[in-house]
Amino acid sequence: MNVSGRVALVTGGGQGIGKAISLKLASYGADVAVVDVNIEKAEETAAEIKRMGRRAMALKIDVVNAKETEEMAEKVFKEMEAIHILVNNAGITRDNLILRMKEEDWDSVIDVNLKGAFNCTKATVKYMTKMRWGRIVNIASVVGVIGNAGQSNYAASKAGLIGFTKSIAREFAGRNITCNAVAPGFIETAMTDALSEQVKADLLTKIPLGRLGGASDVATGVLFLASNASNYITGQVLNINGGMAM
Ligand SMILES: NC(=O)c1ccc[n+]([C@@H]2O[C@H](COP(=O)([O-])OP(=O)(O)OC[C@H]3O[C@@H](n4cnc5c(N)ncnc54)[C@H](O)[C@@H]3O)[C@@H](O)[C@H]2O)c1
Repeated sequence: MNVSGRVALVTGGGQGIGKAISLKLASYGADVAVVDVNIEKAEETAAEIKRMGRRAMALKIDVVNAKETEEMAEKVFKEMEAIHILVNNAGITRDNLILRMKEEDWDSVIDVNLKGAFNCTKATVKYMTKMRWGRIVNIASVVGVIGNAGQSNYAASKAGLIGFTKSIAREFAGRNITCNAVAPGFIETAMTDALSEQVKADLLTKIPLGRLGGASDVATGVLFLASNASNYITGQVLNINGGMAM
C-alpha cells in the first residue's frame, strides 16, 4: 500500500479522521495538502507531516465555496506539481428529529457534506485527468447506508455522497481515475465525544466487535483505496464499522 511520490489533498485534515488520514498517507510516502476551515489545526497537521520528512501545505478553505476550492486546487498543483489523491472528508452534523430540525440545519449539512465533495472533486479531477491517474475517496457513513433517527439531514448527505461516488466512478473510469467511498461506523473523535454515555453504551450493544472504531482504522481503509493495491476497485463502498451493518 505504497503511495510514495503521490500528492494527496485531504479536506477537514485539521483534526479527527481527516488528520489520521493525512498522517497515514504521509507515513506511506505521500506529500499532503491539508485543507480545513480551521487553519491553526491544519497547520498543526502539516507541521507533523513535515517532521516525517514529507512535503506538506496547509490551506484555509471552506469547501462550500466553489471559488475557494478552485483556488485551492490551482495553488496545490502549482506548489506540489501534481494532485493524485483527493479525500473528501470534511463533514459536520446538526442533529435533530425532523419536526424540530431547522431549515438552516438541513442546508448547512447538505452544503458541507455533499456540495463540498462536489466542489472539491470538480476542482481537482481535471488535474488527475492530465496525469491519467487519480484516486478519489469520499468519507460517507454507516448512517448513509442504514439511516438514523435524528440525523435525516446527515444520512441524506452521506447517502447522496454514495450515489455521487458511483457516478464519478463511471464518469472517470476511462481516465484511470477511481472513486470509492469509505463508510465508517462510530469512530472515537470530537464528533462522537458529543454523544452521552448512555447513547454510547447503547451503541456498543449494536457493534459485534464490541468497541467504537479508531480514526486509524478508517485511515487504513483510505490508504488502501488511494494506493495501487486497489487498482481494480471503483464505485464501491468500504464499510468500516465493527460489523454494525452487514
Ligand atoms: N466520527 C465518526 O464517528 C464518524 C462516523 C462516520 C463518518 N464520519 C465522517 O468522517 C468525517 C470526519 O469526521 P470527524 O469525526 O473527524 O469530524 P471532526 O469534526 O473531528 O473533524 C471535521 C473537520 O472538518 C473541518 N471542516 C468542517 N467544515 C468544513 C468546511 N466547510 N470546509 C473545510 N473544512 C471543514 C473541521 O474544521 C474539522 O477539522 C466527516 O465527514 C464525518 O461525517 C465520522
